[in-house]
Amino acid sequence: MTQEPLVVFTPSGKRGRFPKGTPVLTAARQLGVDLDSVCGGRGICSKCQVTPSYGEFSKHGVIVREDALSEWNKVEERYDQKRGLKPGRRLGCQAQIMGDAVIDVPPESQVHRQVVRKAAATRVIEMDPATRLYMVDVAEPDMHEPSGDLQRLERALRTQWDVPAIRCDQTMLAKLQKVLRKGGFRVTVALHKSHADEVARLVEVWPGLHESGLYGLAIDVGSTTVAAHLADLDTGEVKASSGIMNPQIRFGEDLMSRVSYAMMNPGGEAEMTAAVRDAIDTLAGEIAKEAGIDPQLIVETVFVCNPVMHHLLLGIDPVELGQAPFALATSESISMPARELDLHTINPRARAYILPCIAGHVGADAAAVALSEEPGKSEDLVLIVDVGTNAEIILGDRDRVLACSSPTGPAFEGAQISSGQRAAPGAIDAIRIDPETKEPRFRVIGSDKWSDEVGFAEETAAIGITGICGSGIIEAVAELRMAGLMDESGLIGSAEATGTSRCVAEGRTNAYLIHDATAEGGPRIMVTQGDVRAIQLAKSALYAGARLLMDERGVDRVDRVVLAGAFGAHISPKHAMVLGMIPDAPLDKVTSAGNAAGTGARIALCNVAARVEIERVVREITKVETAIAPRFQDHFVAANAIPHKTDPFPELARIAPLPPVAFNVGGEGEEGSRRRRRRKA
Ligand code: FES
Repeated sequence: MTQEPLVVFTPSGKRGRFPKGTPVLTAARQLGVDLDSVCGGRGICSKCQVTPSYGEFSKHGVIVREDALSEWNKVEERYDQKRGLKPGRRLGCQAQIMGDAVIDVPPESQVHRQVVRKAAATRVIEMDPATRLYMVDVAEPDMHEPSGDLQRLERALRTQWDVPAIRCDQTMLAKLQKVLRKGGFRVTVALHKSHADEVARLVEVWPGLHESGLYGLAIDVGSTTVAAHLADLDTGEVKASSGIMNPQIRFGEDLMSRVSYAMMNPGGEAEMTAAVRDAIDTLAGEIAKEAGIDPQLIVETVFVCNPVMHHLLLGIDPVELGQAPFALATSESISMPARELDLHTINPRARAYILPCIAGHVGADAAAVALSEEPGKSEDLVLIVDVGTNAEIILGDRDRVLACSSPTGPAFEGAQISSGQRAAPGAIDAIRIDPETKEPRFRVIGSDKWSDEVGFAEETAAIGITGICGSGIIEAVAELRMAGLMDESGLIGSAEATGTSRCVAEGRTNAYLIHDATAEGGPRIMVTQGDVRAIQLAKSALYAGARLLMDERGVDRVDRVVLAGAFGAHISPKHAMVLGMIPDAPLDKVTSAGNAAGTGARIALCNVAARVEIERVVREITKVETAIAPRFQDHFVAANAIPHKTDPFPELARIAPLPPVAFNVGGEGEEGSRRRRRRKA
């Protein structure tokens, strides 16, 4: 008796024998091979494309003859004429197995295709979105066997796609009959299957085959900005990314001032909720427009945010977060209709998923960072800092993961800095100070040239040199220290003490002049003593938070440091270490993860299993509360010195020896001694 043909699928390597005439799609399904289909094998969606190979495959022990698959059929012919099939491709639902075959499933035909996050990163996102498309043929109504259209649609989904039950809201019901008839009872539905709920929700229905795809928004609601990525729910591809200022800024710069606004003003929280929801809705519309996508095709949204933003987004008064014991209304994830968050621009039945919070002030943004960076899977001890107005700090490895949040304030973003500005064209974002001449050279956003290079003036003529942004001020303060113009306590020396006229007296203190364009009516860009103090406060809060977690783990060192956040991507690790923002570590072990919270949101958007994963992981993360830890204050004070009063920085000493200058003459600093002199006079 001749054996049935053997079919080997690549890249999975899954294999099995099937009777002659079995469609490739059927064989794939029976073997659990990941081969896509929206039309259910009707030869119209082209999602099931495969590439058969011919010849001898000793690896698989198969010889594949030219007639291993059935002849090219009419359906494939029609599809090829209308849309075109790549050479060598077949439709898996049409091609039948006639002999031993080796069949490759190209990435775009895999349901759970892997999307490489970005070229430099190894992490991939496996596509498994909560909302998917299913094409069905629904039985036409029959007077003799009366049943509702919805019931027949349900039956069709059950028999054709194994969907056990669906839920349909009134708005959907209102359009169902028209669409069914328009499509001749062939429709494509978008079904949302939550990981926490067996019943699928009917999100949208289109007549015939819907080919314009489905989209989702991953939204990071920060205190200062709201950032969103619009992703294709089939391919994972980010179609557009955009950001908008959080309009709540008008109620207070930082989180605590917004909590107090809610406390002091009856109805204040509702005002802030309305403001942020309105901004998100506007952003959704803008980003869809930018990507050239109908906003009605946006069927999913995923939100990450810190706890105060979380509460305000959900319309919950954040007052409890303003005082110990910092109780959250809920720390669990939330799944809800997006329209309840006043998102009216997108599909009216779109869903919203809000990542779980960790606890207290450690929110869903930290959870998203944990989802993206996976500290709990790390072999070595990793410290992850997500630097923003608030710093999210995570320390951990496979044994245990700890997290805290530390109020760094907006100084790292260029706010509260005399010449500070947001990272925009014209802002100084990198600076070097020559330790010999004490002269600066710098770069501004919008030009790749350094200020001492030929052509700099021409390149920057149009954008100007307008101020200094977060990464610029960090570099400036660290460079002042490395050039011996500022001492360990953060005091900038006078022109006499430092021997450079770049150090200028500013009232009772000194400032360092980076760029003076006053002669041409431009700005005078300086680093003042006040700027250094603001940076010291911010970096001390960050370092103290990290130290607190290290104490909790009983360690003095970490193996590696990951700088996350949009801003983290631009910080120079060396300068961050000179400043003592982060603990001492080998420089090559300090890396940037880009916007990890945004990536975490994207992962949760594209992969429903990731939601299960993060809901489990947050329960295993221990939150450490900085606000009430007595040691936080001690760490904060010790971290005020640059880089640190007591903690050794041996790795740093190897790469950047810091001149042992001191400008605190008489123990009170130049400021004090000048005051004393004046008093005596
Ligand atoms: Fe849709 Fe083959 S499954 S074309």
